[in-house]
Amino acid sequence: MSVKVLGISASPRLNSNSDILLRQALAGAESAGAETEYIRLRDLNIAPCIECNSCYKKGVCVVEDDYQMLSSKMLEADRLILATPIFFMTFCAQAKALIDRCQCLWAHKYVLKQPLISTGRDRRAMVIAVGGTKSKKMFDSIRLTAKYFLDVLDMSYAANLFVNRIDEPGRIEQHPSAMNEAFRLGRELALTDAPLPEKPVNIELT
Ligand SMILES: Cc1cc2nc3c(=O)[nH]c(=O)nc-3n(C[C@H](O)[C@H](O)[C@H](O)COP(=O)(O)O)c2cc1C
Repeated sequence: MSVKVLGISASPRLNSNSDILLRQALAGAESAGAETEYIRLRDLNIAPCIECNSCYKKGVCVVEDDYQMLSSKMLEADRLILATPIFFMTFCAQAKALIDRCQCLWAHKYVLKQPLISTGRDRRAMVIAVGGTKSKKMFDSIRLTAKYFLDVLDMSYAANLFVNRIDEPGRIEQHPSAMNEAFRLGRELALTDAPLPEKPVNIELT
């Protein structure tokens, strides 16, 4: 059975740089024989968490929107690639809303102490982030939030691809090393026999 790779694109704009890198990474995964699925958050309706804490009782979210569908896909996938633009030094709101809604998975796992995923599954994830300025500090907050998000999803944090100084839409296409790294990392992520690194592979490009 082929590896299932889910790519989630969080940028709200068209011709988005992080989206272009995500599609390169998915092409890389396909080159390794993976089955890929691409989802754009701008096409979905995912409200922010309302902190009602209902999920503490049953481990499910009571807010009914596209989260339920996406959550099932995230739990089913063998690999996840989340791509986000940097907004105010961190994930954009669309990505953060998705992450916060996963509080119900956190409750499932840590409050109700019920397993989310059948044991022995090899699940891995990679994060892509693109920022417009020369700062690299913005990637610290991505790393920290992604670490706890992926822990809740029971996914190993395999890799980051971070690119700064890319601002205009589509500009990333003029950055061949970023495009190549996205393909390479996507391919590597999909290979089932690739050893899992102790720490996430961290590629930061300017
Ligand atoms: C609301 C908003 C906030 C932003 N904040 C930052 C920031 O804190 N640091 C930065 O380097 N770029 C920031 N940018 C620039 C974007 O990260 C940059 O344009 C990036 O290429 C967008 O990625 P995308 O094309 O995938 O949406 C911001 C852009 C917007 C619209």
